[in-house]
Amino acid sequence: MVNPMRLIVGLSGASGIIYGIRMLEVMHDLKIETDLVMTGMAEKMVEIETSRSVEQVRDFATRCHDNSDFTSVLASGGYRTMGMVVLPCSMKTLAGIACGFADNLLLRAADCTLKERRPLILVPRETPLNLIQLKNMVTLAESGVTILPAAPGFYHRPETIDDLVDHIVGKTLDVFGVDHHLYHRWRQDF
Ligand SMILES: Cc1cc2nc3c(=O)[nH]c(=O)nc-3n(C[C@H](O)[C@H](O)[C@H](O)COP(=O)(O)O)c2cc1C
Repeated sequence: MVNPMRLIVGLSGASGIIYGIRMLEVMHDLKIETDLVMTGMAEKMVEIETSRSVEQVRDFATRCHDNSDFTSVLASGGYRTMGMVVLPCSMKTLAGIACGFADNLLLRAADCTLKERRPLILVPRETPLNLIQLKNMVTLAESGVTILPAAPGFYHRPETIDDLVDHIVGKTLDVFGVDHHLYHRWRQDF
């Protein structure tokens, strides 16, 4: 496990903001530090899609960073982390990362994560996908980014929305090698 146990969590303005909130909550419970950066539209999605306030979401994070503050530690590759996850990842943020257009802190943090060869996981949420979006995903995958679509499985027989959300959060934690029991692994009852 990478030391320090610290993950950058980016929340952008796609539908499914609940994925990002749950990630912060789980990391909090696992005592893994989180550096949170939210876009303006992510804050709007908290309001649109949940009954929580942005303040309540921020409370799960260890540190919060202003998305317009390029003097933040997140703007430097010298800030050591386990990597970064953007969930949900909008097509706009995905495009910005794909072409290195770092005009906000979230994009700059992703840029730094890539240049330092740390794991970067994007959880895109859009449907259907156009050719530009698909090509951006290929560019990112070729650069070592993990594209982990917000497309939960059903083989573990989810009963609630929380079960679906936990499947995606669990799959994300799997990439970082973090132990969890967020979903039931197929045929692993031993
Ligand atoms: C209700 C609502 C739902 C949206 N859902 C998505 C979505 O699922 N995926 C997406 O890429 N953009 C979605 N958008 C559009 C983004 O919010 C918009 O492109 C914005 O510029 C993203 O900015 P950000 O990446 O800086 O957060 C949605 C917007 C609204 C208002």
